[in-house]
Amino acid sequence: MAMCVRPLLPHPVRLLLPLLVLEVLAPVHGGYDKTSLLRVGFYKQSCPDAEAIVREVVAKAVGDDQTVTAPLLRLHFHDCFVRGCDASVLLNSTQTSTAEKDAKPNLTLDAFDVIDAIKEKLEKKCPRTVSCADILAIAARDAVSLATKVVTQGQWRKDGNLYEVETGRRDGRVSSAKEAAAHLPDSFDGIRKLITRFASKGLGLKDLAVLSGAHALGNSHCPSLEKRLRNFTAQYDTDPTLDAAYGAMLRQQCSTPEDNQTELAMVPGSSTTFDAAYYSLVAGNKGLFHSDQALLSNGATRMLVYGYIRSEKRFLSDFGVSMVNMGRVAVLTGRQGQVRTRCAVINN
Ligand code: HEM
Ligand SMILES: *[C@@H]1O[C@H](CO)[C@@H](O)[C@H](O)[C@H]1NC(C)=O
Ligand SMILES: *[C@@H]1O[C@H](CO)[C@@H](O)[C@H](O)[C@H]1NC(C)=O
Ligand SMILES: *[C@@H]1O[C@H](CO)[C@@H](O)[C@H](O)[C@H]1NC(C)=O
Ligand SMILES: *[C@@H]1O[C@H](CO)[C@@H](O)[C@H](O)[C@H]1NC(C)=O
Repeated sequence: MAMCVRPLLPHPVRLLLPLLVLEVLAPVHGGYDKTSLLRVGFYKQSCPDAEAIVREVVAKAVGDDQTVTAPLLRLHFHDCFVRGCDASVLLNSTQTSTAEKDAKPNLTLDAFDVIDAIKEKLEKKCPRTVSCADILAIAARDAVSLATKVVTQGQWRKDGNLYEVETGRRDGRVSSAKEAAAHLPDSFDGIRKLITRFASKGLGLKDLAVLSGAHALGNSHCPSLEKRLRNFTAQYDTDPTLDAAYGAMLRQQCSTPEDNQTELAMVPGSSTTFDAAYYSLVAGNKGLFHSDQALLSNGATRMLVYGYIRSEKRFLSDFGVSMVNMGRVAVLTGRQGQVRTRCAVINN
């Protein structure tokens, strides 16, 4: 089927033909197969309550403010796309280096507070045991589960989770704003660029199409859209892939290019509910970003967009599979890295 397109193989693997067969079955993630060291329930012995503690803090935060689910989900994505899922996204800048946190694609601060609160509880219960990278992965899973109606209403699985999350990641020691700018996809990226960026993380077309569905949650700000609305190319002021009336409405909301206060809902009216509504917007040329709309310009991703409109159940189960794939990107495991005691600074 068209959606089985595989990412480019890393060099050493490309030379080992017999492995190619295996590769089809088990994609290589970020070029290294350390995935066997990640598993569901890694902390079962060392910190049996780890997942319950994360869930409790996330549930409390979501109870206080429903909009926190979006930045929690986005944090894990930003973490995994820069240096692998190693919690580099949580590190503060130091005197000698500017961290990912302070790179241009700014993340919402609320979510950092939630991660810190989780870490504090876990350090009391099981000191130096649960990595910040795993906290990000579990918190993202919990956030998206709590935002999904069929999950909260008990129509999905009994355990209240959209998917099972793998753990066993270790934390890195480096965070770089420059790398964040170079590795994170841009909202003006077209389909080829998006496919290349995902492939460089070992992620395929299906991962791209289904993970973009994360934009069912949350908000954007005018600077992320400015070029699309007023200064797209020399030929077009406005991105021609954007519905004209929707574009006019967005231009009205973003009256000045530098306005960073106005919140633009990804899915107007339902930006705290995780569902397949995003795909209907994309099909109607009302995706917020050029990168959202780009899913229509490739046969395989376009088919997935229409498929998810027809079956929300398939979207939700594919989303879980691709979140697990993303959570494996270039992870540190075993004796690599460290388990930070505070997520914003490396251990001495
Ligand atoms: C495919 C490439 C992607 C691009 C180009 C992209 C770009 C963006 C941009 C520009 C924003 C808005 C930032 C702002 O103006 O405040 C945003 C928000 C968001 N993104 Fe993505 N993103 C992509 C993929 C993903 C993925 C894979 C996930 C998670 C699995 C994700 C989750 C989110 C969420 C939840 C928000 C809303 C955040 C909030 O409300 O605080 N995105 N994204
Ligand atoms: C956003 O990034 C700028 C640097 O580009 C930084 O000064 C600012 O504190 C960041 N804002 C948030 C909310 O993290
Ligand atoms: C439009 O984009 C060009 C090139 O990216 C830039 O040089 C120019 O300043 C922009 N104009 C406005 C009005 O933002
Ligand atoms: C947001 O906009 C205000 C006013 O235009 C400006 O002072 C502030 O620096 C901006 N903040 C960021 C993070 O860009
Ligand atoms: C990291 O930076 C934030 C914001 O600048 C600050 O509030 C926090 O105390 C710092 N964390 C650590 C552990 O230094």
